[in-house]
Amino acid sequence: MPEGLLIKGGRVLDPASNLDEICDVFIKEGKVRKIARNINLSYSELIDASDKIVIPGLIDMHVHLREPGREDEETIESGSRAAARGGFTTVCCMPNTDPPIDDPSLVKFIYEQAKSKGVVEVLPVATITKNREGEELSPMGRLKEAGAIAFSDDGSWVTNSALMRRALEYVKMLSLPIISHCEDKSLSAEGVMNEGYFSTVNGLAGIPREAEEVAIFRDLALAKMTDSSLHLAHVSTANSVRLIRKAKNTGIKVTAEVTPHHLAISDEGITDFNTNTKVNPPFRGKEDIELLKESLRDNTIDVIATDHAPHTVEEKERDYEEAPFGVIGLETALSLVLREVVEKKVLSLMQAIARLTVNPARILGIDRGEIREEVKANITIFDPGKSWLVREEEFLSQSSNSPFLGWKLPGKVEWTIIGGKVVYRSEK
Ligand code: DOR
Ligand code: ZN
Repeated sequence: MPEGLLIKGGRVLDPASNLDEICDVFIKEGKVRKIARNINLSYSELIDASDKIVIPGLIDMHVHLREPGREDEETIESGSRAAARGGFTTVCCMPNTDPPIDDPSLVKFIYEQAKSKGVVEVLPVATITKNREGEELSPMGRLKEAGAIAFSDDGSWVTNSALMRRALEYVKMLSLPIISHCEDKSLSAEGVMNEGYFSTVNGLAGIPREAEEVAIFRDLALAKMTDSSLHLAHVSTANSVRLIRKAKNTGIKVTAEVTPHHLAISDEGITDFNTNTKVNPPFRGKEDIELLKESLRDNTIDVIATDHAPHTVEEKERDYEEAPFGVIGLETALSLVLREVVEKKVLSLMQAIARLTVNPARILGIDRGEIREEVKANITIFDPGKSWLVREEEFLSQSSNSPFLGWKLPGKVEWTIIGGKVVYRSEK
């Protein structure tokens, strides 16, 4: 009985090794065993990847899977199916759940749910502070032992600077990243969209860019003070980019991410009170988008992450002021990156894929994000020539709060493979 999966004739693209060649990939017992032209080994399963692009399974270091507590919005099962459809093989889930992931038993719960119901690899992020209240540190050492991959109070900024300093000191010993949601809530206050001309035109309260920048400035100062590493979530403004660039140039150990939606939509696009444009941080101006793109080019921003934030139809049907912040992103991310980053020549395809694979893997310190012999065969295959219409009924996510409904996007994920097993196959 022959064994193994042969992926034949695809354009194999691996940023970690700078490989970009039409060749075959042979997988056996969960691992990549051979990458070469015309592999002549017996197999039990064949994928004809001609005219397709074979890349490392995508890694999303920022998603909200809402379990435990808000299973009406998303579950580990539905969110991981959405991830697989989007070509993601590893996702890190944020701890702003109910209850928040601030206890080792909850970290274990996520792993158990992921093992029994998940489709992709789910790595839990635990809170920085107990109950995400910003007052007392969570038991970081024990959370790491239970399997926490990083720490974040995402949704809130740790406003107490002395506490954040201590958190940065601890993670230095634990060698895990802190992911900071930078937002001074005394400035963002009741705001619901970017503060500026368009918030005035819409008569909506604004969130100034400075709400983010003030917080980034302090966090960079503390990262410098503690010589610890800091990862900045969903960076959205031009001045944030300038601050991070300068910090990197002076040797501060900072990394950062941008979301596909912040690259694709500006505040000018908020015209009809569509609550699927309400997101935190808010869509900014065109100049901000230009700098965010530039920051990908000069490596000021290392990672593209979705901040997939599902909310129910009922919640998003409220008034713009009342609806929750957040948009889903797992199923549209790769296509948006192709449209906004690759087609607009901000990055080459290879560079863009690096920001979705090996770069987050390095920040997280995980052995993922590469196609290499003897590593776990997490692989995504997409068709660059196929475009598709974003339709509500087709989302595998339990929620459909996407600002991209009705958009025609390039590039379709065809197969998502984890450990040599196909976990997603698109319908023809
Ligand atoms: O838009 C957002 N939604 N931003 C966040 O930081 C949190 C997220 C959520 O949990 O819904
Ligand atoms: Zn956040």
